[in-house]
Amino acid sequence: MKGLAPALAGSQWVNGSPQALVRIVLNGKVDQLAMPSLATLDDATIASILTYVRRSWGNEASPIDARTVESIRGVVSHRDQPWSDEELQPLR
Ligand code: HEM
Repeated sequence: MKGLAPALAGSQWVNGSPQALVRIVLNGKVDQLAMPSLATLDDATIASILTYVRRSWGNEASPIDARTVESIRGVVSHRDQPWSDEELQPLR
């Protein structure tokens, strides 16, 4: 719906590569709206949440484990800005 964040059911980002999805949670995302960084959540918590959304509401993507979150966090630790669609698209 206009003015609301896109649905996670069927989302290309939820159902795509962990590389883009974990980045969205760690740093946030901007397009029409803006999602804040949730980097204060620990790796296991983020992995659990992302596994849940990837297995709910008809989504059938693979689980994400804490070590995957840890390794992506290591790669993006320097970043303090949200991601744009253009940056995330190649990682999808
Ligand atoms: C761990 C919890 C969260 C997860 C897993 C999550 C996941 C996502 C994903 C995957 C998208 C992209 C959806 C798409 O375009 O198909 C998204 C977008 C968005 N989220 Fe979150 N989100 C979380 C928490 C939050 C919170 C706490 C807020 C607000 C306080 C928020 C606000 C938004 C907004 C506004 C967008 C749209 C941004 C845009 O225009 O691109 N999210 N979220």
